[in-house]
Order: sequence, then structure tokens, then C-alpha cells
Amino acid sequence: STIRVAVFVGSLRKESFNRQLAHAVERLAPADFQFEHVRIDHLPLYNQDLDAAYPAECANLKKVIEAADALLFVTPEYNRSMPGVLKNAIDIASRPWGTNSFAGKPGAVIGISVGATGTALAQQHLRNVLAYLDVPTLGQPEVFIQHKEGMFDAEGNFTHESTKKFVHGFVDRYVAWVKRFPK
Ligand code: FNR
Repeated sequence: STIRVAVFVGSLRKESFNRQLAHAVERLAPADFQFEHVRIDHLPLYNQDLDAAYPAECANLKKVIEAADALLFVTPEYNRSMPGVLKNAIDIASRPWGTNSFAGKPGAVIGISVGATGTALAQQHLRNVLAYLDVPTLGQPEVFIQHKEGMFDAEGNFTHESTKKFVHGFVDRYVAWVKRFPK
């Protein structure tokens, strides 16, 4: 049966390289994997006062995650960590206390940035957060991609076969990882 993946793209930028990477990954996945990009640009800034009466956008975010079988985080690196918008969404979905929407859902973290470290440090921070939130996260392969001009063609496909092959290898491992966990 269909495996539903909630995709978090850590950039709100229209031409986001990370969104392009997410779409490229999705195209390499088998047909029984269905990907849904989770909206995070309309959420309030998390504030514990919200817990008493969670706003509709926050409650809906939680519902979308809870309906998913697996998670995929595709994030840029901002100042050697994950962007605030992504952390904000994670904080919201992890609360109110005792209702962590991520718990037990298998996930993976990948990313692309213009810097030579290719989001490695942002991913490491995010892994730390996901460990606490009880998300079993794929260890290998790590996907740290440095963006290069012309890396994606007009359709968002990789222009280099070697990049495509590398990302395909990640997708295969991710699919196998997700299938290890009962739905
Ligand atoms: C960046 N960028 C960046 N790149 C990187 O490799 N390491 C970093 O620590 C940072 N820090 C950083 C901070 C802030 C505030 C911005 C706006 C940018 C550059 C970043 O990789 C680049 O903007 C990417 O294009 C962001 O990803 P999207 O939006 O294309 O998905």
C-alpha cells in the first residue's frame, strides 16, 4: 500500500535549491511512495501561551504529520544551523507537551547549500533535535551537496549523471529504511 511521506523544506525561497532537491528525490522514488510538502510559511512564532488553545494552522500541521508514515527533511544551512522557520515548525509540531506529532516516524535529513560544507552542520543540529523527538533517522548515506550553477536543468533534473546516481543511492536506502518500520 501507499507510503505517505511528509516533506519539510527548510527554505521559503521561491527558487530554493532545497525544494529542487526534494523534487529530484521524489522523482527517483518508487511509485508507492507519495510525497506531500508540509506548509511552514504561515505558522505563528511558537510561544508556549499557544498551548492553551492551539491555533488552527498549528493543529493542522500536527494532523498532516500524524497522517504521514515517514518524514523527509531537506534543508539549507543558515549560519551553521537549520533555518529558524524550520525549527519553529518543528517546535510547534512537538507541542503541546505530551503530543509530539513526530514520535516514532522514520525520517532522513538531506540538504544543499552554496557553501563547501553542503549543510553538514545544519544537518547535524537537526539530527540532534530529531533524536530527542523520537524520530529514527537514516544514518547513511549522508547527503551534503554544494550547489553549482547549472546543476539542475530547467525541469529540475540533475545535469550530471554522477549526482543523480549519488542521490538515487540515497533514495534506495531511504525507501528500505522506511519499510523497516511498521505503518
Ligand atoms: C546562508 N548560506 C549558508 N550556506 C552555507 O553553506 N552555510 C551557512 O552557514 C550559510 N549561512 C547562511 C545564512 C543565511 C541567513 C542565509 C540567507 C544564507 C547560503 C545558503 O546556502 C544559500 O542561500 C542557499 O541557496 C539556501 O538554500 P535555498 O534557499 O536555495 O534552498
